[in-house]
Amino acid sequence: LLILNLIIAVCLIQLSSQDDYAINNKKFPDSFLFGASTAAYQIEGGWNEDGKGPSIWDTFTHNHPELISDRSNADVTCDSYHKYKEDVLLLKNLGVNIYRFSISWSRILPTGLPDEINENGIQYYRNLIDELKANGIEPLVTLYHWDLPQGLSDRGGFLSDEFPKWFADYSRIVFQNFANDVNYWVTFNEPIYGCSGYGNDRAAPAVNQSGVGEYICAHNLLKAHAAAYHLYRKEFPQNEGKFSMAIPVEYAVPNSTKAEDVAAAEQKMQFTVGWYARPLYAGDYPEIMKTRIAKRSAAEGFKKSRLPEFTDEEKRNIKNTMDYFALNSYTLNYIYAIAEPPITSPPTVSNDVGVGVIWPTTGDGTLGMTDLARWISKEYNNPDIILTENGYGGSSKDLEDPERISKIQNSLSRFKDALDEGVKLFGYCVWSLMDNYEWNQGYTVKYGIHQVDFSDKNRTRTAKKSAKWYKNVIKTRCLVD
Ligand code: NOJ
Repeated sequence: LLILNLIIAVCLIQLSSQDDYAINNKKFPDSFLFGASTAAYQIEGGWNEDGKGPSIWDTFTHNHPELISDRSNADVTCDSYHKYKEDVLLLKNLGVNIYRFSISWSRILPTGLPDEINENGIQYYRNLIDELKANGIEPLVTLYHWDLPQGLSDRGGFLSDEFPKWFADYSRIVFQNFANDVNYWVTFNEPIYGCSGYGNDRAAPAVNQSGVGEYICAHNLLKAHAAAYHLYRKEFPQNEGKFSMAIPVEYAVPNSTKAEDVAAAEQKMQFTVGWYARPLYAGDYPEIMKTRIAKRSAAEGFKKSRLPEFTDEEKRNIKNTMDYFALNSYTLNYIYAIAEPPITSPPTVSNDVGVGVIWPTTGDGTLGMTDLARWISKEYNNPDIILTENGYGGSSKDLEDPERISKIQNSLSRFKDALDEGVKLFGYCVWSLMDNYEWNQGYTVKYGIHQVDFSDKNRTRTAKKSAKWYKNVIKTRCLVD
């Protein structure tokens, strides 16, 4: 009782860290899952060890150092391939309930295909999961976080009609090994960015088919998600895991109250979130995407819309395959209506979206998060929602990181407002457990609540102030300073 009183007292004496915004200091429910996130390519290293095959990000960073801010790669990065026990210790010290990590497809299937299985790779994830469970931490597993096996990229990757089958075959092997240990699955991480390398040459696999490749990639990815989902339900009926796709959202806030700006903001949401989420909930792309892209494609001289169509059977198959909504959100943007963009060659997805975008300057990136949670809840019929990513990236190496604390605190507080209203938020995973390889920005941008010393062979991890703060939040279940 004393402890409870103390916790309540601590909650009550909280003051707002922003003058104009009172931090929601009510307690998070006991069932709320606090956690941290990472991804295989960004933390594991061991890029060619013990039978792992190369992924498209290995190839891309090796071939194109000039496209990475510090010309680096993730061959070693945080070395979690060898230091997973230390990672779990960090998690344990934080007191998290859940850990989101991803499996490297080519560590398990070196070529991507199931004809060759790398038992060492399976053993690595077995060890990690066992270590998590021994410490009472629930795994949330992402099957794909952008690191496609190079062998499959050579066969066409996401542009191949065979992609859904490749993904289902890979998923089966993961399920055979881990279905009994994992309750939360994410099939694909942030597909809109994962597919961007089919529309430009600055991200792997640098296929550069602007305005066409992104849509085909997304189409096959959605079919692959559904294939893995149904395979699991059919072949693993004794397991009751829940599936999602991690959808990134920069919440579109109308730049004014004018009707055309309000409509433009909604259009942006449908072209970014709806592109993926609407098929998963309702079986097909949003109408506005279908009509706009068909119209622009015709004007550009394409025989068919650049947005592929699902057959009726595919629609039935894809519909209702989101058991919960995995949300990645860092910031919002302000949206205004613009005149119809001109026809360009090649076409671009951003012209298809057809709205004006203003990025927030500083400090207000979390403003829309309550509205964002409400929007998802309304649009997709009040699903269970978990934040699979939210956090703060900066270049500072400092262990004192007040900006990170304030960003996480404000985000959590605004999501808590939505939770109090009845939005079914059930968890929050901070990105990231530790500093890691930030794609094209290499090691120049840091998101960790733990610092990693990349100049030291041991890759020493040290808690930043944000880790200590987060630990206290988890312990008290309220937003203490
Ligand atoms: C999105 C991605 O899922 C993750 O890989 C990335 O590091 C963070 N957000 C930060 O940019």
